[in-house]
Order: sequence, then structure tokens, then C-alpha cells
Amino acid sequence: MKALILYSSRDGQTQKIAKAIAEAMAPQQASDVLDLNRPNTIKWADYDRVLIGASIRYGHFQPALPKFVQQHLPELQKRISGFYSVNLTARKAEKSTPQTNAYTNKFLSQSPWQPDCCAVFAGALRYPQYRWFDRVMIQLIMRMTGGETDASKEVEYTNWDQVRRFALEFACLPGKMS
Ligand SMILES: Cc1cc2nc3c(=O)[nH]c(=O)nc-3n(C[C@H](O)[C@H](O)[C@H](O)COP(=O)(O)O)c2cc1C
Repeated sequence: MKALILYSSRDGQTQKIAKAIAEAMAPQQASDVLDLNRPNTIKWADYDRVLIGASIRYGHFQPALPKFVQQHLPELQKRISGFYSVNLTARKAEKSTPQTNAYTNKFLSQSPWQPDCCAVFAGALRYPQYRWFDRVMIQLIMRMTGGETDASKEVEYTNWDQVRRFALEFACLPGKMS
């Protein structure tokens, strides 16, 4: 059986992390990487574990995330499952665990789905790709939180070693299905 990796991504970083996880897991298990916003019909019978990754914009995950969880709860609960969130707050070590990252903590405390393993990854800051309003808003937030404010810059804060370690942790969890 394969692993299913679903991502909810606006600017591509969560998708990039999903692909890196699939690559790191490949020696143990093959994966399909799909957009959570366009899951079409998932052939659940093909998968014995499922991972969901989602990014934050203006304090929130995309509404597709809780909707997906609600719609597919029994299938998620039957399988080994994992969750990772992606945001810029997590570039600070003290806000980079599922317990200390407010968005992740809130999601997990309200979710009927309780994944078997969780991670928080710092995302990317790509000023040149943002539209004017978003660029100004992110600059303001970065100024307030001591981050990069040069609007010509692209900065990737993701720790790829952390991503690979999490992929192996997820791949090594003992299965629930026979
Ligand atoms: C318009 C906008 C709003 C954002 N809001 C937040 C936020 O409220 N908190 C945060 O920690 N990161 C915030 N971020 C940072 C994103 O979570 C980060 O860029 C992440 O890498 C995006 O992942 P994605 O490319 O998969 O969508 C924001 C980014 C953008 C462009």
C-alpha cells in the first residue's frame, strides 16, 4: 500500500515540503502527493497512511482543511496519520512546536481528527511574488516581529533536515491496517 500526502498551499511552500517528504519516504514507502483543495475521488483502499500539510494566511488555515477532515474523518481515523503546518511564526524556535505554535495548537485542540504525529515548519517569505496589499501587510508584520523587511528579497526559512526527520518518523510509525 502507498502513503497519501495532501497539501493545502497558497504560494507553493507546503506543496514543496509535501514533495520533499514523499522523496524522503520513498525508500520505505511510495506516496501520492495531492492538492487537498482538488482531491477528486481519493481511492482510500490504496493507502494505509495519510499525511496532511497546510499553510497559514492571516492567522488561518484554508477552510478546505477542516472541511476535508470533517468529510473524511472515518478514513483518517482508520489509518496512521500525520499533520504538519507551515507558517512564518515558526521561524522562531519558541513558536515551532505543535504545542507552542498558536495556529497548530488551536487546530489540534479543536479537531475531531487527532493525528499520530505532528510537526510545524517555518515557511518562505517571497515578497516579489506577493500582490501589493499582501506585501505591505507582511512587511508590517515582519517589522513588528523583527523579520526581513526588504521587499526585494525571497527567504526560505524551512529547515529541510527537520522535514526529512519528520518524514522518517511518519514512515516508521507502526501501521494500523492489516
Ligand atoms: C498574505 C499572507 C499572509 C500570511 N499570514 C501569516 C500569518 O498570519 N502568520 C504566519 O505565521 N505566517 C503568515 N504568512 C506566511 C506563510 O504562512 C508562509 O509564507 C508559508 O510559507 C506559505 O505557505 P504556502 O506557500 O504553502 O501557502 C502569510 C503569508 C502571506 C503571503
